[in-house]
Amino acid sequence: MEKYAIRGGSPLVGEVDIAGAKNAALPIISAAIMSNETVTLENLPDVNDVNVLLEAIQRIGAGVDRVDRHTVRINGAHIKGYSVDYESMKKIRASYYLLGALLGKYNRASVPMPGGCAIGSRPIDQHTKGFRALGVRIENESGYLVASCDQMFGAHIFMDVVSVGATINIMMAACRASGRTIIENAAKEPHVVDAANFLNSMGARIKGAGTDVIRIQGVQELHGCTYTIVPDMIEAGTYMMAAAATKGDIVLRNVIPKHLEAISAKLREIGCEVMEADDWVRVVASRRLSSTQVKTLPYPGFPTDMQPQMAAVLALANGTSIVKESIFESRFKYVDELARMGANIKVEGNAAMIIGVDRFHGAQVASPDLRAGAALVIAGLSAEGITVVDDIGYILRGYEDFDEKLRLLGAAIEKIHSEAELRKLELWMGV
Ligand code: EPZ
Repeated sequence: MEKYAIRGGSPLVGEVDIAGAKNAALPIISAAIMSNETVTLENLPDVNDVNVLLEAIQRIGAGVDRVDRHTVRINGAHIKGYSVDYESMKKIRASYYLLGALLGKYNRASVPMPGGCAIGSRPIDQHTKGFRALGVRIENESGYLVASCDQMFGAHIFMDVVSVGATINIMMAACRASGRTIIENAAKEPHVVDAANFLNSMGARIKGAGTDVIRIQGVQELHGCTYTIVPDMIEAGTYMMAAAATKGDIVLRNVIPKHLEAISAKLREIGCEVMEADDWVRVVASRRLSSTQVKTLPYPGFPTDMQPQMAAVLALANGTSIVKESIFESRFKYVDELARMGANIKVEGNAAMIIGVDRFHGAQVASPDLRAGAALVIAGLSAEGITVVDDIGYILRGYEDFDEKLRLLGAAIEKIHSEAELRKLELWMGV
């Protein structure tokens, strides 16, 4: 029953090191099993989703040797099965990347259908469309996607929807197809580029990642390599929003400013100072922020994974803002939780009208999902009084040492592990 207890009101000031990108690490860990040689991954984020996926590939026979928190050696030579168990998929949707990896290596795979989640139905029709185009037979058998083929052949695939997961999954399988594959309307996120760069380090021949047309020339095999995961733009953006919400001054180290451009632009628009150099960004928010309009879009647009955090900041800004969510169909579940803290937000369809208030007051709130949970912590850091954020398991899936890093920035935040600790806190709080 882990919770965060937060006493808000202190500006966050100081420096924070940004970890490797979770959404790059997950496909890269999956792709690593495509070689029979050892792959060493560096700058791996030590977050639950990554650790769960490492356990999942171990369960199918991959060798996983944890060198340290952020470095792992993976060897796919002795994989004994092509089937990913339901437990793994239940814990982490991104296990679907094992479909592309196992198909690429063995022309066979069986992976549980990933369910929906708090932010939307999240179909995988574009993944299956791509695999079928490569010549794969793929059927839903009792909730499992069972895929097989004698040989994959390159194809010209036009994505109906810009999909990060489908782009990467198809790219992985196509690395081992015979001939050339072209993916049109491909996703351009930095983690798509990182996955392509990793596969090329293993000997794949991928061109155009980061544009909307990716070309893949199939190769006979993929060899081992050492690869460093790209910094996490969403973790970075989350701390940038925390600086904005608390009138703080934070330097983020180990980032790629180019990846943060849409976030930096919005923060400047509402009155933050954002300075940057080759591998750091500094956000200073010295006065009350102004309202603006935000619409989430595929990269390089404003990231959907930053939508809740941006809304929490705008809920404290001067004036009325509009936030439009164009990627997922139900990514506003956190609004009711923010309302408990005094936010004035009205959601209609895929848009939220946010009327800024002077301040939040502390309350008991619950995280509906990973990024919404981070947004509630940001709200708690700026609130008057004590906020208790429940269901922080979601947050731990994607943020490494979240409360430790925030404490180093001056936040009064503690993880509560038991009801007894909560009672002590309530006595201390006088509630
Ligand atoms: C990735 O999810 C990320 N997860 C998500 O981050 C992120 O929100 C999302 O990309 C968009 O950037 C990981 O990388 C592990 P999509 P993914 O396929 O790949 C529709 C986080 O907080 N779609 O790009 O599953 C889909 O419903 C998580 O770290 C189809 O219709 O997202 C959505 O509306 C949350 N058919 C849109 O495309 C498909 O086959 C974008 O989804 C696939 C997707």
